[in-house]
This record gives sequence, structure tokens and C-alpha cells, in this order.
Amino acid sequence: MTAETHIHDAPPAGAAADWTIPQNWDAFTAEEHGVWDTLFDRQARLLPGRASSAYLRGLEALKLSESGIPNFDDLSERLMKLTGWQVVAVPGLVPDDVFFDHMANRRFVSGNFIRRADQLDYLQEPDVFHDVFGHVPMLADPVFADYLAAYGRGGLRALALGALPQLSRLYWYTVEFGLVQEAEGLRIFGAGIVSSSAESVFALDDASPNRIGFDLARVMRTEYRIDDFQQNYFVIPSFEELLRVTVETDFAPLYEQIRPLPSIPVGEIVEGDDVIHRGTQAYAQRKAQTAIA
Ligand code: PHE
Ligand code: FE
Repeated sequence: MTAETHIHDAPPAGAAADWTIPQNWDAFTAEEHGVWDTLFDRQARLLPGRASSAYLRGLEALKLSESGIPNFDDLSERLMKLTGWQVVAVPGLVPDDVFFDHMANRRFVSGNFIRRADQLDYLQEPDVFHDVFGHVPMLADPVFADYLAAYGRGGLRALALGALPQLSRLYWYTVEFGLVQEAEGLRIFGAGIVSSSAESVFALDDASPNRIGFDLARVMRTEYRIDDFQQNYFVIPSFEELLRVTVETDFAPLYEQIRPLPSIPVGEIVEGDDVIHRGTQAYAQRKAQTAIA
């Protein structure tokens, strides 16, 4: 899900030097395909009117509604024709440089397991539902496809510059938890939201979180939490604008500029924010109280 953590230090047995493994699609059981279908049906019902039109178009174009866990060869063939991306299987989280190198070369790495039927909402590590249902539809959009490939190149550069914590926040608040302003209203496109039934409602409808206009330096200074709903969502004006500002900005001086500044805690509004919705933070406060009680 995030580029910041990894578990193995070298490719585990059975993995290639680039950490990919065969998807071994035939090995998925009927029960595992059933988990995909259950999750798919739940989200497919929720997302019209909530997910961005680019996401919904991608879901359709890639035929992800076909029953069962998608076969990566078929999926990659469709995706390749649209935007030149492929989907490859990996054993779990991979090292940052491996992750970025695949991304820069338009290979999206996906976990090769699916959550258990009794843990539909519980995920410690990204599984194939998060990775494919959450991320891959956006890769069918030519503009977003370019953004993620550019992000991969930017990731390799950030590693060299020691600025990965800053760049990871950009990934978090766009690729994983981004909102976009569309003519009909706010829409979700981040994979962490669209693949979660609870957060796909919370992110748009709940009064608790802040919704703030996207600003590159602001986002790269903002902390995030990985274990609960977000307390801030950032809203991009369009994918074209996101691509433009990230590609046209040289991040090296920006990293230098923000490095000495304090990071911004989750849930905080700061001077200069374009506040679209000032959150009540009621959800976060309720959580904090039950933690003490
Ligand atoms: N322009 C960025 C840099 O100079 C690279 C980048 C592009 C990062 C797009 C993220 C997204 O490092
Ligand atoms: Fe993810």
C-alpha cells in the first residue's frame, strides 16, 4: 500500500531477481474467487456517484466485473493496449527501489493473495483486491497512468536525495487517499478509499475529516495514519493538473525547502489552506475517548 515499508531483504525463494513471481492463477480456490466476488459486489454498488469518472471508466474498460480474481495476463493485455501498463505479482511488500523501478517502467506490482472470507474489512498488507480493484482502474486513464510512471521515476530520485518520507506523503494523499473535484461534486479516486466500503462513504459524507485543496508542499509536510480513516483528505482540481504540477516541479529544491519545517499533524488546518470542508474531527475524538476509557 505504501512505499515506505518492506518485509524481506532479498527476493524470497521462487521469486525472480526483480521480485516478481508467477501469479499462478489456477491455484486460487473457489472460496478465494468468492471473496473477490463478495468484495467486488459490495464496492460496485457503492461507487457510482462516489468514485471519479476516470476510475469507473477504468473498471468498465478492464472488465473487472467478470467473476473471480482477475488473471493478470488477461488484465495486462487489456491495460497494455490502453496505457502501456502491466500488472505483475509479488510475494508481498517489496523494497522501495524495486517498487519504484517497476512503477517507472509501467509495471504495477500486486500482492498475490486475497484476504480471508472472515476478514473482509481487515488488512495488514495489501492483497490482490486492494491492489487490483483499488489501483488498477486508474491506470487505464492515460493521464493518471503517466502520473504514476513519473512518480516511480521521482521515487528513485527521492531515494537518492534522502527525501522518501516527503515523497511518500504525496503517494499517500493522492494514489491511496485522493479526492478529485468533478463538475457534479467531490469524487474519490484513491485506492485505499475505493477498495474500502466504510471509507468510501466516510471520505465523502462524514463531517469529521478535513477536505483541503491540494497543495504540493503542504501535502509533503503532512503526516498520515495507516491504521484508521484519514483525518485529512486532499482534493485535486483534475488529474491533468496533478500531473502538470508534479512533472513541472523540480522536487530537489522543494525537499530542501520543506526539510527544516515541522511536519503538520493529521487533522490540522494551517494558514494558507484552501479549506473545502473544515472537519469536526468528531470521529477522531470519539476514537481517542474510547481508547482512554
Ligand atoms: N518532478 C519530480 C522530481 O523532480 C518527479 C515526480 C513526478 C514525482 C511526478 C512525483 C510525481 O523529482
Ligand atoms: Fe495501495
